[in-house]
Amino acid sequence: MRFAHEPVMLQEVLQILNPQPGEIFVDCTVGGGGHSRAIVEKIMPGGRLVAIDQDKEAIKAAKKNLAAWSDSIHFVQRNFSALKEILTELGIEAVDGILLDIGVSSHQLDAEERGFSYRADAALDMRMSREDSKTAADLVNNLDAAELTRIIRDFGEELWAKRIADFIVAKRVVNGPIETTGQLVEIIKAAIPARARRRGPHPARRTFQALRIAVNDELGVLERALEQGIACLKPGGRLAVITFHSLEDRIVKKMFQHAAAGCECPPGLPQCVCGKKPQIKILTRKPLQAGEHELKVNPRARSAKLRAAIKVLNEGEGE
Ligand SMILES: C[S@@+](CC[C@H](N)C(=O)[O-])C[C@H]1O[C@@H](n2cnc3c(N)ncnc32)[C@H](O)[C@@H]1O
Repeated sequence: MRFAHEPVMLQEVLQILNPQPGEIFVDCTVGGGGHSRAIVEKIMPGGRLVAIDQDKEAIKAAKKNLAAWSDSIHFVQRNFSALKEILTELGIEAVDGILLDIGVSSHQLDAEERGFSYRADAALDMRMSREDSKTAADLVNNLDAAELTRIIRDFGEELWAKRIADFIVAKRVVNGPIETTGQLVEIIKAAIPARARRRGPHPARRTFQALRIAVNDELGVLERALEQGIACLKPGGRLAVITFHSLEDRIVKKMFQHAAAGCECPPGLPQCVCGKKPQIKILTRKPLQAGEHELKVNPRARSAKLRAAIKVLNEGEGE
């Protein structure tokens, strides 16, 4: 198996996470192990890396690519939304750094049989973990038009969501279940008027993104992982998150802002009653993006946005 994933914004990630010998790091999305490799090199000697991925094939590839450090790495094939539980099971109370490089890997996109790509004809699957039960075909064939519209509009930001959903439902009533990515692409093309199809990216891109987000509950698991990640950092611990579309970036931005804010009492109270203290300091006022040089060698980095934060020590804590 070839895992040809170029780690995105690697230099920026290393600079911000600043891994040091002896530290404990978590890579929540180990993929082929590109970022992990660079991190593990820096935390040696004495460091430990928890390498998580829900995809069995990614864990297999990462184990192979990181074999030289296998004594210092815990490989975990789980959803990163179980971060806290995973660390507790490993006997780790708090960590020095956490990386999330969200989304599908190039390997998953290139593996036609996974059904992520609108450029290949394959079973309509899109599960990042093949142990999950719900596939894209299940959604497309079982949801009603209103629910499909909501998913395609909210997760794909697709202008033609309602027409696409109506075409999907009409087609399955006449021809039976929609089984393949190719069938779905044809339905989407038929639903979007020709003049709109000629502009912008591939007409199926937004709908495929939407279904993938829904199949893998990508926004829900990101929220849960960020909440737990912030809680699991040691004071001074760093958290870096790379996202590839605006819905995810918005979640990271909002959750960072919330965790970085102090008292949230309504104005006018004589003193704070909520007791909320800042948990983190945001390190990236605006998200960092890949530089020109990286974009030349790795076009996939074009939509990547990196946000980072550092855990703060509040008065009375850590004494
Ligand atoms: C963009 S790739 C990561 C590539 C990696 N940073 C590297 O340098 O090779 C994203 C990986 O995250 C995994 N992933 C996405 N969502 C996940 C989740 N909720 N839990 C665990 N792994 C997830 C995917 O299976 C995929 O392998």
